Amino acid sequence: MSKSIILFYSFEGSTKKVAEYLSEELNIPWEQVKPKKDLKSKGFSKYPIGGGQVIMKKKPELEPIQVDLNEYDTIFLGSPIWAGTFAPAIRTVLEDGILKDKNIAFFYTHDGGPGKCKIKIRHAVSINNTLISSYGLAGVKQGLEPLKNGLLEWTKTIKV
Ligand SMILES: Cc1cc2nc3c(=O)[nH]c(=O)nc-3n(C[C@H](O)[C@H](O)[C@H](O)COP(=O)(O)O)c2cc1C
Repeated sequence: MSKSIILFYSFEGSTKKVAEYLSEELNIPWEQVKPKKDLKSKGFSKYPIGGGQVIMKKKPELEPIQVDLNEYDTIFLGSPIWAGTFAPAIRTVLEDGILKDKNIAFFYTHDGGPGKCKIKIRHAVSINNTLISSYGLAGVKQGLEPLKNGLLEWTKTIKV
């Protein structure tokens, strides 16, 4: 039987909000990945600093993950969009063997400028895993309520 978990990175809470909602609706656990050194500021400087990390394809070292991911075969993987792609912590997850041979349902949050993130997600997931599908949510900061239906419709396409 397929077993699923939600694994996500969130800097300011929007992606976490989506993860918590998915967890409740699908009745599956969640786990948050945290870089040992995250961005320090939630002010404007987060953009050039975080964006710089993306451009340099940084893979920050992560705090130990508290669950045994070997137990799961389907992963709902969540990330905010930074500079048109997934956040650096998720690059670590995808490229450094933290997830291997998994089915990935990728969800991402952004502020209306996802760029070509779908292509970048597909490419990065495919290195070690299989992408089932990806789904974006714009403007979670303004409230998750209007986005819930679309999100649930998406989850119905995925075997949990
Ligand atoms: C460093 C950085 C870069 C960002 N780049 C983008 C972007 O390219 N396009 C966009 O729509 N939003 C961008 N955002 C906004 C976030 O994607 C958005 O607010 C997201 O929902 C935040 O998720 P979180 O609260 O889980 O961290 C950026 C935010 C940060 C911190």
